[in-house]
Amino acid sequence: ASTTEVDLSAIEPGQAIKASFRKQPLFVRHLTQAEIDQADAVPLGELRDPQSLKERTKEGKAQWLVTLGVCTHLGCVPLGAGEGEAKGDYGGYFCPCHGSHYDTAARIRKGPAPKNLEVPAYTFDTDTKITVG
Ligand code: FES
Repeated sequence: ASTTEVDLSAIEPGQAIKASFRKQPLFVRHLTQAEIDQADAVPLGELRDPQSLKERTKEGKAQWLVTLGVCTHLGCVPLGAGEGEAKGDYGGYFCPCHGSHYDTAARIRKGPAPKNLEVPAYTFDTDTKITVG
């Protein structure tokens, strides 16, 4: 199994980049405090796939959201990473194939996708570098 290293130092708050991991798109988002607050304000009971931002990020690193860029409906690549701005009605990602909206924690909020964008296994090597896989 291969791993992917991602340098976080150039990702500004409010930005997301697209990398690749085992031939799949990988999204790495640097959340602003407002985006963190927005995610934390959602009652888990309102979520189709209930997970807190804390469960989807590493301890003390809630600003770094690492997910696969693969829509959990039928596998299209959502928009909102590498484009300079978030997409969709919930400030995260938007899958244009059939209209799935993901929030600032990349959780499914509207549309046909059944699950949140998947968080892969990864570790922080330093404050500005992660290894995925
Ligand atoms: Fe994303 Fe269908 S593949 S909404």
